[in-house]
Amino acid sequence: MSYSLWNDQIVKDEEVVVNKEDRGYQFGDGVYEVVKVYNGELFTAEEHVDRFYVSAEKIRMTIPYTKDKLHQLLHQLVEKNKVETGHVYFQITRGAGARNHVFPGDEVKPVLTGNTKENPRPVANFENGVKATFVEDVRWLRCDIKSLNLLGAVLAKQEAQEKGCYEAILHRGETVTEGSSSNIYGIKDGVLYTHPADNFILNGITRQVIIKCAAEIGLPVKEEAMTKAQLLAMDEVIVSSTTSEVTPIVEVDGTVFGGGKPGDWTRKLQVQFDTKIPKGIRA
Ligand SMILES: Cc1ncc(COP(=O)(O)O)c(C=O)c1O
Repeated sequence: MSYSLWNDQIVKDEEVVVNKEDRGYQFGDGVYEVVKVYNGELFTAEEHVDRFYVSAEKIRMTIPYTKDKLHQLLHQLVEKNKVETGHVYFQITRGAGARNHVFPGDEVKPVLTGNTKENPRPVANFENGVKATFVEDVRWLRCDIKSLNLLGAVLAKQEAQEKGCYEAILHRGETVTEGSSSNIYGIKDGVLYTHPADNFILNGITRQVIIKCAAEIGLPVKEEAMTKAQLLAMDEVIVSSTTSEVTPIVEVDGTVFGGGKPGDWTRKLQVQFDTKIPKGIRA
């Protein structure tokens, strides 16, 4: 039996009822988070919950629970579902009301839902690297919000998959922004480059951990956007996210990096990242 989060309760999956007039369903009017669980323990939950509240605020939605309450619920859910290594997904929508673009009145309450998934770390990708492809970034201009509106990302990821690639590297004109569900980095002559955390990207929690790891291993970081040509000329390329962690990209549209093998800096970042991962309560 599996359990879900439904507002301020943990209930059996089948007990969750979602209204067809929910604004998440009709408009993608809501925000979400994904938190990695290692050996039963949530990783960087504080940062994810903080970003959840910031995303909600940016779309002018008030989450009707304290952060402490939400942390408590997430821990209960992970515990109840006995998650070993996987993740917890949760989202909040502006609630259900007769369809109208304008915000509903105060009588309509936001709807919080969540669930967990057992999902082993993609260690083969860490070892061998993955392929990526360039896709034009046609998303909106508030990519700093972790919005439920993911159609731009969905279309980009589908295109990447159809080309046999793990990720779509998005670009606005010549400027590389991020991945369809990840952040992108290039390493050239011992310097790590990644797009600055502005409205064109989601400031990944993994990105923030990687920037810390880089400082710890003596790899200077420049939060500067790369052009497509600059990215193709990098020594090493990396994709990161909560579930992808530090994944090397060894090929982009036929350009091969490091002879098709993850580079030394990438390896060092992976090792440093591993030191942060919780040993967990079920190790
Ligand atoms: C567009 C986008 N950028 C970056 C990320 C990486 O964020 P995080 O490291 O917090 O998972 C994600 C994660 O889903 C994403 O969807």
